[in-house]
Amino acid sequence: MFKVSPQVEGISNKFIKHDSNMLNQIYGTDDLVPYWVADMDFPIANPITNELARLVEREVYSYEFNSSNIFQAISNWNRDRHGLQLNPENFAQVPGVLSAIALLIREFSNEGEGVLIQTPVYHQFRRLIESAGRKAVNNTLKLAGERYEMDFADFEQKLKNDSVKIVLLCNPHNPVGRVWTADELRQMAEIAAKYDVVVISDEVHADIVFDDHQFNSILATGYESAISIIGSPAKNFGLNSISNGYIYSDNEAYIAKIKAASSSMALDHGNAFTTFATIAAYEKGQEWFEGFLTYTQNNVDWVVGYVAEHMPQIKVFKPEGTNQIWFDFSGLGLAPEPLKSLLAKEAKIGLTPGTWFGEPNENYYRINVASPLEQLQASFERLKAAVDQI
Ligand SMILES: Cc1ncc(COP(=O)(O)O)c(C=O)c1O
Repeated sequence: MFKVSPQVEGISNKFIKHDSNMLNQIYGTDDLVPYWVADMDFPIANPITNELARLVEREVYSYEFNSSNIFQAISNWNRDRHGLQLNPENFAQVPGVLSAIALLIREFSNEGEGVLIQTPVYHQFRRLIESAGRKAVNNTLKLAGERYEMDFADFEQKLKNDSVKIVLLCNPHNPVGRVWTADELRQMAEIAAKYDVVVISDEVHADIVFDDHQFNSILATGYESAISIIGSPAKNFGLNSISNGYIYSDNEAYIAKIKAASSSMALDHGNAFTTFATIAAYEKGQEWFEGFLTYTQNNVDWVVGYVAEHMPQIKVFKPEGTNQIWFDFSGLGLAPEPLKSLLAKEAKIGLTPGTWFGEPNENYYRINVASPLEQLQASFERLKAAVDQI
């Protein structure tokens, strides 16, 4: 069962999220509650803990490969949850989602060519593109009232003019929280087909979808040049530091090429802890996951409702999916430095700066709400007190 146990003092001082050097670097103080990293503060599902305990008790760590059971478990989960039919033969395993992206960029483009991203977007995308010697091409999302949408006219222009070989899609989108509709993905695939561009879809947040929104995979468009990074239990089961990345494509030539690349660098050897945890998560973790999703949805609703009622100057983008909420603080009328100081030093709330995501406007910030509700409530009450003083 999902539970929100109190934080155990001392266990967290090596977590990146709480690391005081990093906090001082980002915020100029470590005296704040961190909400900046996309991981969760909750204990993981019991069935996963039990499987890890079984592995430890076995006391033997011989070479052990069990990837076919992992692929089957991820396939079944996606069939039941998202109606996706995935062939367990068409998966490739790599150490993580980011290493999947790094490998795919190298396999499906050449140095100097373009990789399109939809900014503001998860900051590691740009880093991976540029460190592979490729060019990051921005297709900035446009604001349509309360939500972000894809700018398809600009998208097509960029595919036409910028030697783009890959579209790196984030679905659900971190940080703006959109869960792309089947229609939006179909339009994207149609334009990509016209210019013969590969679409790589990072679907690591696929299961964290709220209200009546529905996750649609790029795979469901049937686009033959689509690749999904699917089913890593990092975000949905809180296994960030022990999860792999799973690449999937129905395109036989692509998946053969990806498997060969992963194998050539010996990246496909799973670690026993990851293997045990992943199979347990997808086979036995459903009840826990439903509890987690309900709790997170309630946190999102509380934060959105509280800000709307008490700090209407702050614009909140209610997420359709992901643990993140994206904010625009422009309405407070503060310059970037006073805003930063109000958030970190007065409200003591460690948000992710929007500028990290390619957002030129310094008034934007992201929060990860996978934390105990009481903690979030105390943080937002402090924020309200600080805002009331302006
Ligand atoms: C969209 C997205 N992709 C990838 C990652 C990181 O994945 P991994 O740690 O498995 O490489 C994150 C983590 O926040 C993310 O939000």
